[in-house]
Amino acid sequence: MDSFIIEGGRPLKGAIRVGGSKNAALPILIATLLTDCPCEIDNVPNLRDIRTTFRLLESLGKRIEYDGDAVRVLATGRLETRAPYEIVKQMRASVLVAGPLLARFGTVRVPIPGGCAIGMRPIDIHLQGFRALGATEHEETGDVVMRAARLKGRRVRLRLPSVGATENLMMAACLASGLTVIANAAQEPEIEDLGAFLNRLGASVEGAGTATVTVRGGARLEGAVNSIPGRAPSRAALGRALPRGAVHAVIPDRIESGTLLIAAAATGGSVRLEGACAAHLEAVLESLEAAGSRVRAGYGFIDLSLASRPKAVGIRTLPYPGFPTDLQAPWMSLMCLARGTCLIRETVFENRFLHAAELVRMGAAVRLRGSTARVEGRPSLNGAPVMASDIRGGAALVVAALAAKGRTILQRVYHIDRGYERLEVRLRRLGASIRRVRR
Ligand code: EPZ
Repeated sequence: MDSFIIEGGRPLKGAIRVGGSKNAALPILIATLLTDCPCEIDNVPNLRDIRTTFRLLESLGKRIEYDGDAVRVLATGRLETRAPYEIVKQMRASVLVAGPLLARFGTVRVPIPGGCAIGMRPIDIHLQGFRALGATEHEETGDVVMRAARLKGRRVRLRLPSVGATENLMMAACLASGLTVIANAAQEPEIEDLGAFLNRLGASVEGAGTATVTVRGGARLEGAVNSIPGRAPSRAALGRALPRGAVHAVIPDRIESGTLLIAAAATGGSVRLEGACAAHLEAVLESLEAAGSRVRAGYGFIDLSLASRPKAVGIRTLPYPGFPTDLQAPWMSLMCLARGTCLIRETVFENRFLHAAELVRMGAAVRLRGSTARVEGRPSLNGAPVMASDIRGGAALVVAALAAKGRTILQRVYHIDRGYERLEVRLRRLGASIRRVRR
């Protein structure tokens, strides 16, 4: 198991390019199950969860080819309609295969994902949506089995704006008969990106990225001879292998962007993020400015610098466009160093404070009460042996360690590798002292 060894106290300085969004790439790759036409997805980050998605698609009968960040998903023959437990247990997003497979083949069998470190994470909203579209379901040895001769479009109002349920239903609705309206839909930029990809496949999706998504279903999705606006079509798109198909470039990763900006602020640094999208990060940039950072954003870049100790700024996590739950943990690390005391409220997941106890090991003053953390800023943190327990909690410990005095040994880096590509290599380019060791 790999660990990071981090010598803290060096301000991050310089420019770094942001990668493609993990949480946009995952559903887009899975949406290729809706079609047999070849799909080229560009700007796909090289992450553990993405490699797990490749294995998932291969286990269902797709062929994957990749070259750098460009991925081609190709048909090989008939697709399986049963997702393997071995893969679903590693990555909960695997449950997104349910929508496309059910809609296309009239049946699907998916293991019910168990809870994970950050919460129970049930899938009742997904299932309720499929039922509304006419599917029947039963459980069999830990799997949910769903059937529907043909899904029928309907108005579905989600109990809460679940990202995964919105994505699953959008994909299913593309092959349902008639019109589906998803009300109280999640509005995350990743959903807008999925909608754009589905439309490139030939679907008719409107309103993705708003609270009401409308999908006009059709019999099949075959793509088109396609190119990405403003960018020369790839050789694959022009080549003989792609008479019809879909080409799409994934949006930049707003959570990776936010993590790097927060790390820069925590170390009193000054960085430029290239390829980042400020419009996707409004709530975070506002909080960073309130904490005293100087932020300047333009087309395809964000600059941030913070010369003094941050001011204490409380946050409450909310579905988009609110402050993202995925940046709550890194924000807590920054606030541990703030002048003053603040409250951090987690409203999206019920158990997303596992990093707090590790931060306390580094000298932080954090008190938990239910879904609220009270963080009293300290002038400095100290390096210590600590352990990551989920992707973003792990990233928060990297942020704290970069800012702390002395050496931190951070174990269970595999959690971080699920969501951040070669984080240590990229941070070194910004002047950090961080290396990976195998133990
Ligand atoms: C997505 O998870 C992201 N994952 C998560 O990122 C992110 O934290 C989350 O959205 C919220 O923004 C991917 O995109 C792959 P939800 P998802 O369904 O879709 C409850 C990361 O670190 N809920 O919006 O699973 C659920 O328990 C990860 O990159 C139900 O009760 O999130 C949670 O409390 C972690 N029933 C809340 O809704 C359901 O059927 C939000 O979950 C579905 C969800």
